Amino acid sequence: MMDKVRRAGILGTGRYVPEKVVTNEDLSAKMDTNDEWIVTRTGIRTRHIAASGEAASDMAAEAGRRALERAGISADQISFMMVATGTPDYPIPSTASIVQEKLGLSHTGAMDISSGCAGLIYGLIIAGGMVSSGMADYVLVISSEMLSRHLDWTDRSVCILFGDGASAAVVGPVPEREGILSFDMGTDGRFWNSIHIPAGGVVQPVSEEAIRNKDIYMKMEGKKVFAWSVRRMKETADISLRRAGLDKKDISLFLFHQANLRIIQCLSEKMGIPMDKIPIELDRFGNTGPASVGIALDEALRKGYIRKGDKVLLDAFGAGFIWSSAVIGF
Ligand code: UT7
Repeated sequence: MMDKVRRAGILGTGRYVPEKVVTNEDLSAKMDTNDEWIVTRTGIRTRHIAASGEAASDMAAEAGRRALERAGISADQISFMMVATGTPDYPIPSTASIVQEKLGLSHTGAMDISSGCAGLIYGLIIAGGMVSSGMADYVLVISSEMLSRHLDWTDRSVCILFGDGASAAVVGPVPEREGILSFDMGTDGRFWNSIHIPAGGVVQPVSEEAIRNKDIYMKMEGKKVFAWSVRRMKETADISLRRAGLDKKDISLFLFHQANLRIIQCLSEKMGIPMDKIPIELDRFGNTGPASVGIALDEALRKGYIRKGDKVLLDAFGAGFIWSSAVIGF
């Protein structure tokens, strides 16, 4: 333990989205919106929504199971696990405890990460540190977000944006020149209430009044979030690239948080990255919070878009405001 420094990378990924697909037309039938507005403003066409009875821990466990399978790592080889979520099954205990039980990982430490949409990348970086230092050999990092349960389905400016889903990665030792080559993590707490759910915590416990005022649902200052997303995601990408000693041209794929196609197009323009180097999954899944970057990574790996020797940038921004990026070699 702790007597060696080694390179840590992603050995396998998995993802899970619920079966039920909700289209823009489905939403138009329930509220004053339309496919044209949603597609032009966000790029989103469909999203998956969890069935009643399905929990964030169920999605997490399924994504985790698939990641273990792809990595070829058995549950008993995992020594620590994390679940990034803003939509835990319960306020107490951590969703990680529930997922740990579902995956039969009873010998591991487990904890939740509450870092908004940057949660999965935060988790990968923490896991990378544990593996590099020798504190752990294999760490399972999962993200699972079920925002459908926290949305006001009459607030058309917010509810159309999100979908439920989970993604996971097994982090373990990899050869030199592969794995997490650099990273950056940031937070700007001045804007903690620009995306938040006012009720349900200790400041405003759930009450009839909170329900009446719709304070149990997520509130968001859309334009502010948009502007800061672009700014911080560009800055953090530049920092991670610089720390890795790489140029944009050295990166095969830019896996940006899948919140809004226009945010991604702005990044493409400002950073001078062609759109064909940026996978788009939000058209099918909407914004799946911390799971989104992992879903895009899983998709890219499964479709063979990432080859041996490729370097990929992961970059996300969300509630907090919190952001993070990492350059990962495969
Ligand atoms: O992980 C980070 C998560 N958050 C985000 O990614 C959000 C970032 N922000 C955004 O994506 C955009 O700000 C939105 C997509 C949320 C909104 O786009 P916008 O271009 O900022 O629109 P807006 O809020 O300025 O609204 C323009 C108009 C308004 O009508 P008026 O006041 O001009 O008459 C809205 O009432 O569009 C109306 N509107 C809608 N119309 C049809 C808002 N939502 C809808 C809707 N359908 N769903």
